[in-house]
Amino acid sequence: MEYSSMNKAQLQAEYDAVAKDFEALKAKGLKLDMSRGKPSKAQLDLVSGVLTALTTPEECAVEGTDARNYGELAGLPCARRYFAEILGCKPEECFMGGNASLTLMYDTISKAYTHGLLHSEKPWAKLDKVKFLCPAPGYDRHFKISQSFGMEMITIEMTENGPDMDAVEEAVKDPAVKGMWCVPKYSNPEGVIYSDETIRRIAALKPAAPDFLLMWDNAYCIHEFDGDFVPFPDIISLCREAGNPDMVFEYASTSKVTFPGAGISVMASSVDNIKYMLGLLGIQTISYDKVNQLRHVRFLKDKATTLELMKKHAAIMKPKFDAVVSALDKEIAPLGIAQWKRPKGGYFVSVDTMDGLAKRTLALCKEVGVVMTGAGATFPYGVDPRDRNIRIAPSLPPVEELEQAIAVFCTCLKLAALEKLLAA
Ligand SMILES: Cc1ncc(COP(=O)(O)O)c(C=O)c1O
Repeated sequence: MEYSSMNKAQLQAEYDAVAKDFEALKAKGLKLDMSRGKPSKAQLDLVSGVLTALTTPEECAVEGTDARNYGELAGLPCARRYFAEILGCKPEECFMGGNASLTLMYDTISKAYTHGLLHSEKPWAKLDKVKFLCPAPGYDRHFKISQSFGMEMITIEMTENGPDMDAVEEAVKDPAVKGMWCVPKYSNPEGVIYSDETIRRIAALKPAAPDFLLMWDNAYCIHEFDGDFVPFPDIISLCREAGNPDMVFEYASTSKVTFPGAGISVMASSVDNIKYMLGLLGIQTISYDKVNQLRHVRFLKDKATTLELMKKHAAIMKPKFDAVVSALDKEIAPLGIAQWKRPKGGYFVSVDTMDGLAKRTLALCKEVGVVMTGAGATFPYGVDPRDRNIRIAPSLPPVEELEQAIAVFCTCLKLAALEKLLAA
């Protein structure tokens, strides 16, 4: 029965029962973590071959380059070809970074502030105001980058097809709006895939700012855990065809393919943008870690081999997502106190509770020993205006622990809802 149809006495009886469950869970002294999208040990063990992909000096020689030495600022040609095949762009559009794509994203924004982008009239640091579009719920670290540079973040509502494009098209008429964060495939946290129509409209934007920066974070571009690989369009070609050749910077990495924090990353953009960035990057480094690039290319080989590996990741991930969604379906759906998406890829399940329950639910989870991503983290400035979005990251714990953790979550959500309804 939905909680909203219960009378006071029924709600009180339900509260008493759920409060008892809550105390029993608390007494177990649990210590469970569903806070961050980390691969599990079983997933890391799948890719141990990276560690032994290069064992001799001879193996470090590739296409006339010694991967152990300085050189090839933009990355080993084989690594650029590898990511170009994954992203569907050209090798010369790929710049290979270090161990994390987030560093590349931060660096792009940082360069916009200090030096300006290819089409900037002046560095952003010299402007009175820089505004950035933030589809939300979204990735907390994107918003933190924007916040740390003092941008004014404009929340754009996420729909099931991606960002609300009417709002985006309106917002970019303001020349102070300098860019937008996007996670086009299996968005963090909702697992939404932007529709073709949304992507077409984004590529064809006509921003007032000449240096509008589309931050296209394709972190989950090959990360299906349920079903076959879903192809995605090459945003760089689409922007070029729409007359915006230098508008987009795309990012990806092997963080959730091999080792998070010890993989390789890529920044892809127009050849002119890459050339401009190389001019700046060549001052801050002589070259990135080509030994790791080569180990990865030797191990991952190509797109087809990588997609086979992703199937093995999927076999580990799917039961965990199933455990979360089936617990929510069974325990929460009949009560009408929350809604959630059923992603087929990515690393998260996004739950929207009745308004005003997210903080309280997570505080209750913490009391029982279950850590989750903080409430509000998925919104600019860490403030969820309706206090309702909760990001669940099921990948790290083993299934048995996850089942316990999600049971705790369901109990805490019920308790938070009952408290609120009884107080009304
Ligand atoms: C959308 C998104 N982008 C980027 C990252 C981090 O990627 P990297 O390890 O390459 O910095 C994450 C990690 O959770 C993510 O969810």
